Amino acid sequence: MYPYVLLVLFVLLLAEISIKNLATAKEQNSNDIHLEAPHLSDRTESNRPPIKPSTNVPQKKIKQKISNTKNKINPCKGTYVRTNGTTCGLKEIMIGRCYEYQFVKYPSATNQHNIKNCTALYETFESAVRYKSHCNMNMSTYKDYFDLALAGVHVINRAMFWSGTYAVTHAYSGSGLNYITLEDTLAAAMVNGLVWCGNENHTEGFDFNSCPNNCKDNRWADLAFWGLASKTFAQLAAGEIFVILNGSQLHGRSAFRNNSYFSDFELPNFRRHGEYRVTKINALVLHSPDEKVMERCGEKSLRLLEDLITNNGFEYACKDDPEELILIMCGNQWEARECQIARRVLRQAWDTKLYGTSNSNQKSLSLLMIFYFFLIKIVVFNNKV
Ligand SMILES: *[C@@H]1O[C@H](CO)[C@@H](O)[C@H](O)[C@H]1NC(C)=O
Ligand SMILES: *[C@@H]1O[C@H](CO)[C@@H](O)[C@H](O)[C@H]1NC(C)=O
Ligand SMILES: *[C@@H]1O[C@H](CO)[C@@H](O)[C@H](O)[C@H]1NC(C)=O
Ligand SMILES: *[C@@H]1O[C@H](CO)[C@@H](O)[C@H](O)[C@H]1NC(C)=O
Ligand SMILES: *[C@@H]1O[C@H](CO)[C@@H](O)[C@H](O)[C@H]1NC(C)=O
Ligand SMILES: *[C@@H]1O[C@H](CO)[C@@H](O)[C@H](O)[C@H]1NC(C)=O
Repeated sequence: MYPYVLLVLFVLLLAEISIKNLATAKEQNSNDIHLEAPHLSDRTESNRPPIKPSTNVPQKKIKQKISNTKNKINPCKGTYVRTNGTTCGLKEIMIGRCYEYQFVKYPSATNQHNIKNCTALYETFESAVRYKSHCNMNMSTYKDYFDLALAGVHVINRAMFWSGTYAVTHAYSGSGLNYITLEDTLAAAMVNGLVWCGNENHTEGFDFNSCPNNCKDNRWADLAFWGLASKTFAQLAAGEIFVILNGSQLHGRSAFRNNSYFSDFELPNFRRHGEYRVTKINALVLHSPDEKVMERCGEKSLRLLEDLITNNGFEYACKDDPEELILIMCGNQWEARECQIARRVLRQAWDTKLYGTSNSNQKSLSLLMIFYFFLIKIVVFNNKV
């Protein structure tokens, strides 16, 4: 049996050499150019204010906690400073974004008939908020703005909602090219990420130093904009709609939860009748790489969601981790355990594409086959002896 053992050792040596060569070749390749892993954002929320549970405490007279110093220096004049108040250049940013939205980003979606007047839109927004006390606002404050900005819009079969999955949802929606989220509508795109609050005592009518964003006695003040935005967007959604939920929520939060924009402002406002009604709600539940699975379709809060939806006469479907979204999650969490194998398999598929079927992996595979062949021979040989 000695010749066989020698042969096996020889084959093993060959295999190891070829694997080593492969490894060094790969290392050299990856050493040539250093690339960072792709990165979307870790955001699970936008910067809209969190919804606080409503309390049954009787409405007290609204107290102003913000300073009422008149004619505070406007920090936006001169050099730019980051403040906790209204974003410097609010007006210019909003008007600029409005033009960009209509003329650059979606010129084809905009025709002569439905071009919105950006100055008029800004003025409608401004008249709702400027020189007004932030904590006196309510869900009708921005009504005219939304009526104007979203007039004539219907989002059919492409409306996408999200809760606790901001970054992944927006990567997937592709700024409205794939699906349309609230933030992809003109009304929301004009202010997304900006901060503003009115102040009746400021010469500018806006407080550029600090915004309260926490009106103790009037929870509707903080929700005045994003609450109405969510409600209005939900009313425009028609046909099949999609909602991306987070099945890996931490801190006892559930995928579908009370005091979320989806449960409080969107779900209750989907149209149930008429030409532009919602027919089907598709829930997509994501489980983040390297995170625990807390809920799957049909479990816990997702069971509640299903009941709520079907009781309202909509069709319901739920899917855990569609591949289209797994790829985005892995793109963002390159190093996660679940994504490593996928990366390797993709690499192999691309090598085959680049170098054809007779690539190095095939070679090492055939070496492995030879090795097994000899192993079997030895076993058989030993048994005979
Ligand atoms: C504006 O000034 C009035 C009178 O000084 C005061 O009562 C009010 O609280 C002030 N408002 C704000 C938002 O500072
Ligand atoms: C903004 O608020 C944060 C937290 O309250 C505070 O630490 C920071 O100093 C404030 N910045 C300005 C410019 O007032
Ligand atoms: C747009 O609205 C502004 C302010 O309301 C108005 O002055 C202007 O004439 C309007 N522009 C057009 C083209 O209608
Ligand atoms: C909202 O505020 C406006 C002006 O402050 C007031 O006229 C209106 O009645 C309020 N609406 C609600 C629903 O409270
Ligand atoms: C789900 O929530 C967890 C906890 O907040 C977060 O780490 C994770 O990134 C979220 N998943 C997605 C897909 O947004
Ligand atoms: C929301 O609150 C209501 C009333 O308290 C409760 O019946 C429901 O189960 C809650 N929903 C979720 C998703 O927790």
